[in-house]
Amino acid sequence: MSAEASSVRLITPYKMGRFDLSHRVVLAPLTRQRSYHNVPQPHAILYYSQRTSKGGLLISEATGVSDTAQGYPDTPGVWTKEQVEAWKPIVDAVHAKGGIFFCQIWHVGRVSNSGFQPNGQAPISSTDKPLTPQLRANGVDVAEFSPPRCLRTDEIPEIVNHFRLAARNAMEAGFDGVEIHGAHGYLIDQFMKDQVNDRTDQYGGSLENRCRFALEIIKVVSDEIGPDRVGIRLSPFADYMESGDSNPKALGLYMAEALNKYGILYCHMVEPRMKTVAEKCDCPHSLVPMRNAFGGTFIVAGGYDREDGNKAVAENRADLVAFGRLFLANPDLPRRFELDAPLNKYNRNTFYISDPVVGYTDYPFLETAA
Ligand SMILES: Cc1cc2nc3c(=O)[nH]c(=O)nc-3n(C[C@H](O)[C@H](O)[C@H](O)COP(=O)(O)O)c2cc1C
Repeated sequence: MSAEASSVRLITPYKMGRFDLSHRVVLAPLTRQRSYHNVPQPHAILYYSQRTSKGGLLISEATGVSDTAQGYPDTPGVWTKEQVEAWKPIVDAVHAKGGIFFCQIWHVGRVSNSGFQPNGQAPISSTDKPLTPQLRANGVDVAEFSPPRCLRTDEIPEIVNHFRLAARNAMEAGFDGVEIHGAHGYLIDQFMKDQVNDRTDQYGGSLENRCRFALEIIKVVSDEIGPDRVGIRLSPFADYMESGDSNPKALGLYMAEALNKYGILYCHMVEPRMKTVAEKCDCPHSLVPMRNAFGGTFIVAGGYDREDGNKAVAENRADLVAFGRLFLANPDLPRRFELDAPLNKYNRNTFYISDPVVGYTDYPFLETAA
């Protein structure tokens, strides 16, 4: 490593369990809605391989665990044989360049409508409280949500099992591990947050009860593929999709401590400053207490740039830093950070379009940048 690079803390090696990372710049999970009919497509081979560096960690876009897990058009799944087969060449391409690839597995819960559900049924959730219609992240379309159906207690083990099967399938597809999506107001978060969860059974009420669903998923997934291949993403401070909590710090700390019992590989937390999924604001809260409470690798995300990311690593507030929008627009982001090179600007208008090239694989590399 050059003298210049060694002063760039993001570009220093890190051992994450069995994985030898050559730097700390992680590809954050990014939904791109180009997996037609929930099947990963060949254009994703180029997209992910462009963002791969030797010893770099990539987290896939959110990937559905079952046929009730979807709430957006053309997001990938990992519950059918066809989907597993379609992931294989994508994962292979990342491995061919020496990358480490985790599959983010999710269930959207009530962030859906009956059009995405089998037989037009109601989306499932921890509650039957509906979401109000919301402007989509593209700032144009309004998402309409169908009133959810609150899961009965006896139905919960089946949903937990879907996460187990999805993790097994992700391993079958060749992924190095899975990241359980417990953030951003989706199903797991709908159980954890007290402004959503109004249950009276053992999955509602106390902090311990609200976190039970998440921890049951962690347990079965860890038993299935090994805790050293499991991470979780959490956003205790966020209130996207009307999923706020009255005491996010207590929730974050409870989860960070509880995760230690399962010995999972990493905890990936979204910074409290993220006001929406992609907009940052000034905020007095910090993830440091959770960082200190959790014994494994701690990944932070949300509004980071090169300077800020270097600082977080230098001050030991994080082991790794995940970058979303910057990595989306700069396939060679780790190299640009190493060289302190200028960055391409992201184009929000093409985040979620279905084009297999535009805004997806056509962001230039440093050498070819104008
Ligand atoms: C286009 C887009 C898609 C996203 N999709 C996901 C996703 O599938 N799963 C997830 O956990 N977060 C998702 N996020 C949030 C990002 O992972 C990240 O936390 C967020 O962009 C803030 O980080 P940044 O400031 O580096 O962009 C998405 C964000 C964007 C902009």
